[in-house]
Amino acid sequence: MRRKIIAGNWKMHMLRQPGTALASEISRVASANPEVDVVLCPPYTLLGAVGDAIGDSLASLGAQDAFWRDAGAYTGQVSPVMLIDAGVTYVIVGHSECRGRFGVPEPDFDETVLRHFGDTDRTVNLKLLACLSAGLRVICCVGETLGEREAGQTDATVQAQIEAAIVGAEDLSAVVVAYEPVWAIGTGRTCDTQEADRVCGVIRSHIRRLRGADAADRLRIQYGGSVKRSNARELLSMPNIDGALVGGASLVAQEFAGIIEACR
Ligand code: PGA
Repeated sequence: MRRKIIAGNWKMHMLRQPGTALASEISRVASANPEVDVVLCPPYTLLGAVGDAIGDSLASLGAQDAFWRDAGAYTGQVSPVMLIDAGVTYVIVGHSECRGRFGVPEPDFDETVLRHFGDTDRTVNLKLLACLSAGLRVICCVGETLGEREAGQTDATVQAQIEAAIVGAEDLSAVVVAYEPVWAIGTGRTCDTQEADRVCGVIRSHIRRLRGADAADRLRIQYGGSVKRSNARELLSMPNIDGALVGGASLVAQEFAGIIEACR
């Protein structure tokens, strides 16, 4: 039986006061639901404050990204060892927004600006390996754009992304995969429950082919993309969906608490 894992990706939201209040409230909910792993991923600026608010509750602290080197002349980057030093245990890597793939297209982000969001399958792999070797747990995001879905490339896209991400990672026990169809992120458009479960199953079958039955059966796969309290129970009851990666609804205590409670 795989433990459910609910992670809140705060993205570029929250200042200190509302952020610590939210984290305190969610920490209480986490401790009241010990059968669920609860992870809060605030922006870097709030890692310390949210870590303090989590205290010795059962919630875990997560980061939204990491660089692949321990230290060096990499202005603006944050390394896995720095995250460990800040009390972090989980890191999101390969989020579609870091790959420059947006659910809600940004009209003034032309090609030259999109390059800023530079993750590729190769950098996602470097980040995943660096985080694992530092002792962090990784939430590795994969997912197709609307164009890829309409072209019938959903399965091939997620298979290629997950295969590239885990190259050289022998042990997947500290890896969680998040299936996040790009067109469902921040759009209010949730993927149909059966279809979300089917694609999570495609990912699991691909891991089975690559790494064997044991690794596949143990791998936790989250769904992400417009998850809210009202659709969480149905999604979380599916056989291949072991949790949720939640953006917008993780910023509202009642919503996020409802998603955690929907694991029961
Ligand atoms: P959303 O974001 O829940 O706001 O759609 C999910 C994510 O990007 O992780």
